[in-house]
Amino acid sequence: MKISVIGAGNVGATCADEIARRELANEVILLDIKEGISEGKALDLWQTAPVNIYDTRVIGTTNDYSMTANSDVVIITSGLPRKPGMSRDDLISTNAGIVKAVTENVIKHSPDTIILMVANPLDVMSYCAFLTSKLPSNKVFGMAGILDTARFRAFLASEINCSPKDIQAMLLGGHGDTMVPLPRYTTVSGIPVTEFVDGERLTAIIDRTKKGGGEIVKLMGTSAWYAPAAGVAQMVEAIVRDQKRIFPVCSWLTGEYGLNEVYMGVPVVLGKGGIEKIIELKLNNDELELVKNSAGAVKEVMTIYDNMNK
Ligand code: NAI
Ligand code: 2OP
Repeated sequence: MKISVIGAGNVGATCADEIARRELANEVILLDIKEGISEGKALDLWQTAPVNIYDTRVIGTTNDYSMTANSDVVIITSGLPRKPGMSRDDLISTNAGIVKAVTENVIKHSPDTIILMVANPLDVMSYCAFLTSKLPSNKVFGMAGILDTARFRAFLASEINCSPKDIQAMLLGGHGDTMVPLPRYTTVSGIPVTEFVDGERLTAIIDRTKKGGGEIVKLMGTSAWYAPAAGVAQMVEAIVRDQKRIFPVCSWLTGEYGLNEVYMGVPVVLGKGGIEKIIELKLNNDELELVKNSAGAVKEVMTIYDNMNK
């Protein structure tokens, strides 16, 4: 197994670390445009191998895509993170150019790879990689739903004072403030979450989840990386070990949920073929309304992208 991570910043380097520690590949290539940064970080990571007891080889390169040839999975984290006061959508003008150029280079050397998008605005960058790579949509998708549900689950665990291991949750929609956490599909060891948290507190936790990325940006001046990289590694593990796990994944919809030609988070089965199945939940009218609203918000930014490329 060979995995490449494009962008050796906070998220990219942490992804390489998580993937190596879990021994999800024989080789991880870490590539960045900044001279020396990925070589330095890869060397530092490789020097953790004897201590952390793994043999996945992490190799860094400055922009040499031939090193990424024949990757099974390519993770794209190259792009600016937001600063306080910015929305993820404000990143489109810079990140669209970066992601398009990166995807062109990736696909030249790994024409059959799976692309896992991380750069923001996530849904539209997945769309950009899909159009640019011309890969089938089951091989181009994005990570956000695992992160957003992890935030929801962590906040619930603190509220209930129970182990986060026991909280299962589902969340749909775009990776932005319109995302739709679904309390009806959230349980604590199989018990409906509403038996632990009253309506008012649950609404406050849902609201905090939707703004969970921004909360960290306000604290640190840049966005998160530990939980995002853990989410990426969980998806990579599902693919390389063909686990058929069910996660919310940013996927290309062609009629599911009554939505057409939009990238958005929905539950999928993830295995060695990438997205093996999109799962359609039986949403009630209120939930469906929120999901459509979220898809509308993503489509607006997709239109900005389309206009940039006319
Ligand atoms: P960072 O600034 O730490 O790292 C970005 C790296 O990309 C830098 O090292 C930069 O040199 C590199 N880069 C820029 N242009 C490049 C190019 N053309 N080719 C190769 N490398 C290039 O940023 P961070 O925190 O790692 O975030 C990366 C992206 O991931 C941001 O867009 C951020 O918004 C997004 N993000 C998405 C999450 C999600 O849930 N999907 C979660 C966290 C971050
Ligand atoms: C987050 O939600 C920045 O999208 C990233 O933390």
